[in-house]
Amino acid sequence: MNDQTPKRLGGSLVERAVAHQALIQRQAAQQPAPAPSAPAPLPRHDIPPFGAVEAPRAPLVRPEPVAPVDPVAQPAAARRRIAIDRKKLADHGMLVPGAVITALAEEFRLVKRQLLTTARQIRADGGAGADDRSRMILVCSAKPNDGKTFCAINLALSLAAEKDVEILLVDADFAKPDVLARLGAPDGPGLLDVLSGGVKNVEDCIIDTDVPQLSVLPAGTRSVADTELLASARAAAILDGLAAANPRRIVIFDSPPILAASPASALASHVGQVMLVVRADRTRESELRDAVGLLDGCEHIQLLLNSVSIQPNGRRFGSYGAYYGEPDQ
Ligand SMILES: Nc1ncnc2c1ncn2[C@@H]1O[C@H](COP(=O)(O)OP(=O)(O)O)[C@@H](O)[C@H]1O
Ligand SMILES: [Mg+2]
Repeated sequence: MNDQTPKRLGGSLVERAVAHQALIQRQAAQQPAPAPSAPAPLPRHDIPPFGAVEAPRAPLVRPEPVAPVDPVAQPAAARRRIAIDRKKLADHGMLVPGAVITALAEEFRLVKRQLLTTARQIRADGGAGADDRSRMILVCSAKPNDGKTFCAINLALSLAAEKDVEILLVDADFAKPDVLARLGAPDGPGLLDVLSGGVKNVEDCIIDTDVPQLSVLPAGTRSVADTELLASARAAAILDGLAAANPRRIVIFDSPPILAASPASALASHVGQVMLVVRADRTRESELRDAVGLLDGCEHIQLLLNSVSIQPNGRRFGSYGAYYGEPDQ
């Protein structure tokens, strides 16, 4: 697509797609990435005011050495298994495994085809760790409530119906971990517990579901150092190990919002592709630019227009919206 003229976001589906695509192409071709905005501070109660209170001097305790991580995780001893609440999925307007094919299901088929095609392209391009990276996808958006969890779960359910794959859905929105609750299942120890060294083997936190080929990894217990934990070398080994542990596994991360929390950029540097959810009529052009700039650790960013109700040529396009491809192609 050669159109480089600035366009307003709005208008028909096609106009929106062209406008977004042109925006990202311009940014990639002509402009330096926007300066990353400062990470949002943690809530006050998480950070004691520096130097405000003289803490009682604690006896010197040598920290427990953190066990080295084997990048290829060990198989879990015996996995927990949950039943996904189909009624809850239906009540939230989401895909329901085994139900009749809906417009939403068709739309997610298109989305997953595009992601699988890009995964093949990443593998064909080669390079260090290309195979593992090609099987890691980050579902991200500029702000909270744009539909990341909605899209991540629907994508995971759609991909789980493919042959010869196993889908691992990781709840990585540490501030607002919703995946397990949205599936109607109890939470448990998860990624943060492994990153902090509280749990040694990440595979022990993975929970199987009653949907064939779909398992989930909860977010785990929060600490004030989530971002630092995620940016550590130990985290790199654990995250990359999720894909390396199983060549059939596709890992989908339900990400924190990129403009509200810094862990999203740390996660983006591990994955092969980012699916950037754009909430129709809510995400601003400037937010989209900033989000793409902060995601520059990943080469393949796909835009996904969520929650639109448009009728191109009289055909209803569903509440989910339109997928219109990769901005850097
Ligand atoms: N396309 C959609 N159709 C119907 N409901 C949606 C859609 N996208 C998001 N929602 C709803 O909007 C709310 C916020 O979405 P959510 O996925 O939790 O956002 P995020 O994970 O980005 O914070 C949820 O109640 C979700 O079910
Ligand atoms: Mg969410």
